[in-house]
Order: sequence, then structure tokens, then C-alpha cells
Amino acid sequence: MTEHLIRREDYRPPQWSVREVWLSFTLDEETTEVRARLHCLRGEGVSEEEPIVLDAEELELVSVALDGEPLSPQSGPGGRGFVHDDVSLRLHGARAPEAWVETVVRIHPARNTALSGLYRSGTGLFTQCEAQGFRRITPFPDRPDVMARFHVTLEADEARYPVLLSNGNLQETVRLPGGRHRAVWVDPFPKPSYLFALVAADLQAIEREVGLADGRRSLLQVWVKPEHLPRAGWALASLEAALRWDERRFGRVLDLDRYMIVAVSDFNMGAMENKGLNIFNTKYVLASPETATDADYAAVQAVVGHEYFHNWTGNRITCRDWFQLTLKEGLTVFREQEFSADELAQAVGPERADSARAVKRIEDVQTLRTAQFPEDEGPMAHPIRPQSYRAIDNFYTATVYEKGAEVIRLLHTLLGEKGFRAGMDRYFERYDGQAVTCEDFVAAMAEANGVDLTPFLRWYEQAGTPRLVVEEDWDGDAGRYTLHLRQFTPPTPGQPENGPVILPVRLGLLGADGRDLPLVLADERDAVPAPEAPPAGGMRPIAPRDSAVGATTRLFTLTDEALTLEFIGLPPGPKPVPSLLRGFSAPVRLVFEEPDEALRHRMAYDSDAFNRWDAAQSWAQRQVLRLTRGETETLDETFVTAWKQLLADESLDAMFRVKAAALPGERWLLETMTPADPVRLRTALVRSSIDLARAGRDLWPRWRDCGSARPYRYDPLEAGRRALAAFAWRMEALLGEDERCSRTFAAADNLTERLAALDAALAHPDEALGEALLSAFESRYAEDDLVLDKWFARQAMRWSWHGAPGAVLARVQRLTEHRAFRWTNPNKVYALVLNFFANNLAEACAAGDPAWAFWQEAVLRLDATNPIVGSRLARALERWRRWAEPYRAAFAPVLEATRRQVRSTEVREILDRMADEEVVAP
Ligand code: TRP
Ligand code: ZN
Repeated sequence: MTEHLIRREDYRPPQWSVREVWLSFTLDEETTEVRARLHCLRGEGVSEEEPIVLDAEELELVSVALDGEPLSPQSGPGGRGFVHDDVSLRLHGARAPEAWVETVVRIHPARNTALSGLYRSGTGLFTQCEAQGFRRITPFPDRPDVMARFHVTLEADEARYPVLLSNGNLQETVRLPGGRHRAVWVDPFPKPSYLFALVAADLQAIEREVGLADGRRSLLQVWVKPEHLPRAGWALASLEAALRWDERRFGRVLDLDRYMIVAVSDFNMGAMENKGLNIFNTKYVLASPETATDADYAAVQAVVGHEYFHNWTGNRITCRDWFQLTLKEGLTVFREQEFSADELAQAVGPERADSARAVKRIEDVQTLRTAQFPEDEGPMAHPIRPQSYRAIDNFYTATVYEKGAEVIRLLHTLLGEKGFRAGMDRYFERYDGQAVTCEDFVAAMAEANGVDLTPFLRWYEQAGTPRLVVEEDWDGDAGRYTLHLRQFTPPTPGQPENGPVILPVRLGLLGADGRDLPLVLADERDAVPAPEAPPAGGMRPIAPRDSAVGATTRLFTLTDEALTLEFIGLPPGPKPVPSLLRGFSAPVRLVFEEPDEALRHRMAYDSDAFNRWDAAQSWAQRQVLRLTRGETETLDETFVTAWKQLLADESLDAMFRVKAAALPGERWLLETMTPADPVRLRTALVRSSIDLARAGRDLWPRWRDCGSARPYRYDPLEAGRRALAAFAWRMEALLGEDERCSRTFAAADNLTERLAALDAALAHPDEALGEALLSAFESRYAEDDLVLDKWFARQAMRWSWHGAPGAVLARVQRLTEHRAFRWTNPNKVYALVLNFFANNLAEACAAGDPAWAFWQEAVLRLDATNPIVGSRLARALERWRRWAEPYRAAFAPVLEATRRQVRSTEVREILDRMADEEVVAP
């Protein structure tokens, strides 16, 4: 079968669209019958001969009618009739510009292991339609630029499926003979098919009626299994917080009388923003002190916010085609990031607001660096708006989401909060109810601000992480400091030459005493700031600098390859220390020879909390890599001293200190090593951790008892205290302290501390201690599917201290037989199998061939049952070309053999790219 490449430039508007649709489901897990009536419209200028083409996948066709007349399979060319193949249903013979199509199909939810379309989870039935699942439910033009009004009738056995939900408003419910019942739902907003949803299950809701900013009222509900009701409160509170935030910050008010969240345990991703009926992975809904950690609470709030914000950025205004995915995802991730940061700042109070916001920024940048940067340099590199794809599901990536959010943030940085808000207002005014492109979004931003953003669009066209190369000159007598900034983007697959992007650099200069210096450029000395010329008809170009002459943090923007900045009036003497890209003002890699001494200075004094963290991390990275290369046996004393000082600085937010003191993540460090040797790196990390634990010995007793104030309550300030305590426990465990872990594990009244105790035990040199707590954890949470995922994950990510190479792999393989493990449940596969390959590469490499054989077997199994999950597992090893020998050579033939056996388009696309030498940048 030839694989079909879909190109952005091939976009054509639909020949036929659908204005209104009536769906009627007779629901059952074995066989569900779906009747559809579509009111179709022929496009402007489309010929009468054009068939009505409906996407149709894995549907058993029962009957087709056109304009009230039954239709038969087409017998000859040109006549009335239909053609049904693997991917579509084509209807010939519609002569009028409007047509009525009626189809009846049968589908089999219990056999749907791909979890796309209508599927069974537990005893319930759920849908997932994004991106192309609707075509697995009924024949339909399954593309986002076809927007229709949906009328949905659901009929099912009442005892088995007591709750029947779909999008919009509940029109009626009817009891039927034979123990059956029916519900009718009508969604007043036209929507693309990917936002359709239905649920038929035994669920209960907690709910709350809220008043909206425009005076209307709305009912908010969170639907879960009856036994999970006590864990639904946080999601409901988060939903209300998100609703208030969007009213305040963007003036966006909920447009529905009813907004529902439904939790399901078998789900490929995090959650889905179906209009008025969000469907969520249970992982991002359920939270109680005993079953969710502080991090889980924050994640629930973030995902609930994300899906809620989609209602305006995604649903009211949607994507013209799937290439525009970042239009809704990048923007919505950015909105969620701002929501989470605002909520954190509010929770900790005004004095700590800055470092609390920095904590969120740090987490987001860590995600970007560990997930997106590697993607951008590997076989899957693509612009935030891809040029082509074989399977769209493979492009729900860190690039589209996280880099996409950074690109939106660039606009926010360039235009300021007010300008950005004006652009958003313009976007909603202009495009509400439409399916649009990324250019449309940028045009709204440009017009509302009178700025020509054409050069900005390159961020949508180019893959690859730009490099910002910095050189400096210092004239200590004159007090003149010059920065030479230059950018380039390395070649990426299919893009041998990349041009300069619009690159905002927020920066400051630190004096010898650590204080920020006022920033004045040479040509600003006596200049009276000229009043900004009004955009005379046309638009202003993007300004290369702000007008804040004399401020200590300023914004300069590279609009071309290079920019030189000459700062004057600085105190003569020692060179100031630059603090570049404050707040990570652009998603680039900084290429700058910064001496240890400068990192030390910034680690102690940088007024920008993000950069202070970044200085600590860069220095730590340097230390660990030197150990890895065998250049030294121990950490530098100056580093250790600075590290201790930062960690002990009580004026800083506790969570911030923990983030700054933690060693950089292994995945990120591997990216900075060429070739990447996971086994050597692991050894160096263990040694560094023990060194630091020893050096900080006097600190640990200070914090080890400052766990939560009882009883547990999620609160960012307390979460910080708990994180500091957890840090101390782990450090003491590394040194062989063994009492505390078991005691804390037994005494804790919450999962955060209990897991922290387990994690500390797993760091203890005596492996028996970790084993004991692992088994205690298993018995305690034996009945709790979601919490057991954390138990699986810890065993997958375990570092074997003395164990034979292969011991962790053997354990992971054995656990696939555990009664709670199911290959059909994505959360289980991610926790145990994906985690092992993505986050424990050192153990995989140490195990060698058996590990790669296990990867192959798992990928092939999932390829046949759930290609979305299979692709994600395949991608865990996409950076294999960077590995040191013998790992790389051992993996190559396994990749080749696997590639020959895969069936799904999704997994094949990934493996082909992984195997193709041509696609990887030199
Ligand atoms: N649109 C969803 C979000 O970002 C994610 C999503 C895309 C998804 N495809 C999916 C979820 C497939 C589940 C299954 O919130
Ligand atoms: Zn999203």
C-alpha cells in the first residue's frame, strides 16, 4: 500500500459541506446502530457532477438514501448510486445545490481498542473524535472547516447506561418500554465533527450553578464513577477558577447553559475539549489528599483550565485544516500557562508572587527543553505549522503545543499585555464562528496594534531551534559595555537554509555588588525620546528596542541576523555580568562563553528569578558533564558552596529553591552530550547526588520535619514546604539514613509525603528498604487503579544500584503480567513501558539486546491495537542516532526489523523517519 502524504499546499475548500445533522444512536457495547441525516450544501462554483464525499472508516454500511430515495451501489459510471471503500462513502446523483443524505451503519465499541471513535471503557461507552475519529462513527465530511448544527438522540438500556450525555442542551428524556430510555441533546453552536461527543455510562455528578459576568447562569458538572465522587471536588473548583480567570483576563464569558466534564480511565491523551462535554483521562480529574500529589493537583487545575480555554480558542474559533493545529493548541497552552501562573501568584501573596510565577515558567521551559528541543533536532523535526504529514495524530507534539505556546508568548512580549489583549479582542470580533488559519490570528494581532508582523510569520514556517550567539566587549575606563548578538537556525529535514526570526531579548547587567545597572544605549544619551509616529495609513515595523531608557531590564529585538548594543554610563572597573533572555524571552539556545564566576554571580544575585535558576542549572550541568567525561572525580567546591547558599536562602520561595537545587534532568543532559552515553551519565549523576547530600549534611535536619501542617490541604505554599522536606529526606537516604523513610511512609496523611518517603527509600543504598516500601505501597493501594500507576512508574524508572544489568528490565517485563496491568489501558503502558524507555535509558542500554527486543514486541503489539499509543512508544527512542556505541549499533537492526513489520500509518510514519538518515540534521 502506498502511503499517502498530505500537504498543506494542497488545501481546497470542501466541495460539499453540511449545515445541519441529526444523529440517532441505538447504543450497545457489542453493536451500536447509528442513523444519520445530513443536510448538505454544494460549494460555490462546484460542478453538478461532483459526488458528495463522506469519510467512512471501519463502518458496516446498512443503507444509504439520497433526497429520500434509497441509493444502491453504483453499477456503471455516471449514474445515481454510491461507492463505499476503506476510507470513504461517495454519493453520486445529487443534482440540486442542497441534498439530504441518510445513512445507517453499525459499529462495535467493545472491539475498538484504538480508543478513537466510539469505544467501551469499563461498562460505559465514550467517544474520542479529534482528530479523525468521527469517521469511525458515521459517514461524514470529517474535516474542521465543515461546521454543522448537531441534533443527537441517544437510546440505550437504562440499567446498564443510566446516564446519556452529548453536546449542548438536554432537550428531553423519555422512558421507553423494555427498560430502555432515550435522551435528546441539541447543540446550539455549529461545530466541526471533531468536537462531537457522547457518553453512555453509570456515572454520577457533582455540580454547581454559577452566575456569569454577563448576568446569565450556567450549570457546571463533573461526572465520575459513583465511588469517585469524593475525588471530584478539585476539578469542579478548578473549572470555576478557570471560568473566572477567562472573564477577568480576556473578557471571555461561558456561552453555554451547561458545561460538563466526564472522567474515563481508558484515554489516549490528557483530555478533550468537546463542546460543552469535555472528556478527561481520570488522571486529570480525580484528586484527594490520599490519592493525588501536590503535582497532581496542579496538573488537574492546568488541564481543566486548558480544556475550558479551548471553548473560545479552538471551539468558537477553530482551525481551517489540521496544519493549523497550533492556532488552537499553542494559544490555549499559553492561556493555561498564564492562568496557572496567576493562580500561583495569587495563592502565595504579593511578596513571593515573582518567584512563584517563576516556578511555573521554569516548569514550562523544562518541558520545552526536554521534550521540544530534542524533537526539533531529531527525525520528527517540523515547524509549529507542519508542511506535510501522513498521520495527523503524530503531530500532537511538543513542537505544536509547547513551542507553539512560546511563539504566542513572543507576541505577548513584543506587544505587551495591553497590545496582546487588543489583538485577542480583534481576533474574537473578526473570526468568531469560523474555521481560520494562523495568518488570520497574526493579522488580528498586527491590525489591533498597527504593527507589521509579516516577518514574524517565519516562526510558523521553520523548524529547528534558533541559536543566539553572544559576544561582549568591555571598556572598563569608559564604562562602556558592548553586546554583539547574532542568530542562526541550523538546517532541518527538508529545510537546508533557515533565515533569521524575530527574536526578543530581555536583558539586564549586574554590577560587581550584584545590583542591576541602568541601561542606556550610546545613541540615547541626550536624545529626548521622540513621540511615537502614528502609523500613517500603513503599519509600523517591529521596533528593535523598547523606549525604557535607563530601566534595569530592557527589551531588545533582533529583526535581522545581528544586533549590536552599546551601553554607556556604567561604573568603571570590573566588567558587568550580563543576564540574557530574562524570563526566557525567546525559545532559543544561548551560545555564550560564560565563565563559572559569572554563573556564580548570577546564581547569587540575578534579579530575574528565572535566570537565577538557569544559572544554577547551567553550572550544575557543567559539573555533571565534567564528571561524566572523567575530567574530575568530585564537584567543584565553589559550586557546592554556591549551591548550598541558594538552597538555604530563606527569602526565596521554597519550591523555587528545590527547583534550583535539583540536578538537571537526565533527558536534558543526554541532549547536551555527544555522543550520548546514558550509562556513564547515570554513574556521574549518582556520584554528584551523593556529593551534594554530603555537602549539605547540616541543612537536612532543618527541613526534614517541616512537612505538611495537618490535615493536608493542597496549597502552593505548603507544597513548597513539602517539596523541601522531601528533598531533605532523599538526601539523607542517599547517605544511608534509614529510619525516616519507613516512619514517614507509615505516618503520612497524604500521598505527596508518602510517595516522597518511597522515593527517598528508592535512593537508599540498601535496596531492601525500597523493596519493602514498594510492597507496602502495593498493598495499600491495591484497589486504586490510578494510584497504582505511580507504583508501576517508580519500578520502571528505578535506578539499580548494585543489581545485575537487566534486573530493572526483567522487573518491568514481569510487571506486564501484574493483575493491574493492561496493554489496552494507555495510562498503564505510559507508566510502565514508555517510562522505562523514555526516562530510564541507562537501564535499557545496560540490559542491551533484551531491552530492544522488548521495545520491538511492545511497539508491534500496540501497532495492531492502538496506533496512537504505539507511536508514542516508538518515539521514545527517536534520538537513537546520538547514542554512544555499542548501544547505537545494537539498536539499528532492531529498528529495521520492526519497520518491516508495522501495519498502521501512525507507527510506520515514525519508524520510517527514525530509519531515514536523510531526515536528521548533520
Ligand atoms: N485537543 C486535545 C487537547 O489538546 C488533545 C487531543 C488531540 C486528544 N487528539 C486527541 C485527546 C486524541 C485524546 C485523544 O486538549
Ligand atoms: Zn488542547
